[in-house]
Amino acid sequence: MSSLLNSQAVKRPLLASLALPFALLAGQAFADGDGVWKSGENVYQKVCGHCHEHQVGPVITGRQLPPQYISAVVRNGFRAMPAFPASFIDDKALQQVGEYISKSPAPAAKP
Ligand code: HEC
Repeated sequence: MSSLLNSQAVKRPLLASLALPFALLAGQAFADGDGVWKSGENVYQKVCGHCHEHQVGPVITGRQLPPQYISAVVRNGFRAMPAFPASFIDDKALQQVGEYISKSPAPAAKP
């Protein structure tokens, strides 16, 4: 029993540190909507861009990545990238964001 208590004590701060950024992300994602994603660009800017426009994740625009690949990464996660379930990004929005990213031009070089 004492080993169970010990492992819970270790896990709690780790879970809290993981949950916080997603609480923030989820709050922001729907901040200007009514729980419905407006477009692929909307999903990209509200979710993906937080990491993929700020060097947390690799650049994914301008690479003609196949939408099917993008969907698979989003649903399953990929190494350091967390998975996003349909309760957060529905299938239609996921298809739209995949098409948006696939067709998007490469970001302008920053000075
Ligand atoms: C919390 C940060 C975060 C968010 C939010 C995020 N990603 Fe990622 N993503 C990552 C990281 C980090 C990687 C690199 C994973 C690795 O290589 O270990 C990645 C990798 C990827 C890849 C693979 C890139 C490649 O070079 O093959 C795709 C595709 C991708 N993300 C799509 C998305 C999409 C679409 C969204 C929005 C729905 C999104 N990501 C949201 C962090 C994030």
